[in-house]
Amino acid sequence: MTTAIYPGSFDPLTFGHVDIIERSARLFDHVIVSILTNAQKAPLFTVDERIEIMREILTPRFENVEVDVFHGLLVDYATQKKAQVIVRGIRAVTDYEYEFQMALMNRRLKPDIETVFMMPAENYSYLSSRLVKEIAELGGSVAGLVPESVERRLKQRFKKAFEKEKL
Ligand code: PNS
Repeated sequence: MTTAIYPGSFDPLTFGHVDIIERSARLFDHVIVSILTNAQKAPLFTVDERIEIMREILTPRFENVEVDVFHGLLVDYATQKKAQVIVRGIRAVTDYEYEFQMALMNRRLKPDIETVFMMPAENYSYLSSRLVKEIAELGGSVAGLVPESVERRLKQRFKKAFEKEKL
């Protein structure tokens, strides 16, 4: 039984993430998609909102995928969950340096946990949560980049911001 952790901020979940989750769900027996609760970052969606969004989208679609949260060291969390694998998505060469550093550091901390890199479909290779937020904030369309419920929530969130600005 192989358990894999797919960790990240998922602020918000994009089709690039869903693509990696789909590939992981095919490869591993159990996949835990886990949201980092990082007090230092100022997220757009709260952890509870992200859990709700991700469970709504992932639970009906993948029976071996679970959504969870973690804080502290990823390798400690992976050990606690008895996971053998950490999954990370790699889009372009620009991701490589940071991911390489993190994978080797995690290996140093916990040598028996393996990091597995996966490439999303090429049409998602330029997609990131950061760009999605920026486009949505500036009134652009994120259709086809994020699931519909994320699109709806982004519109609501930024509509509120626009309304506040007008006051
Ligand atoms: O989606 P992100 O923000 O690129 O995910 C980064 C994440 C959550 C994988 C990384 O920040 C992480 O693992 N943080 C937990 C703290 C930790 O273990 N740090 C040491 C990494 S070598």
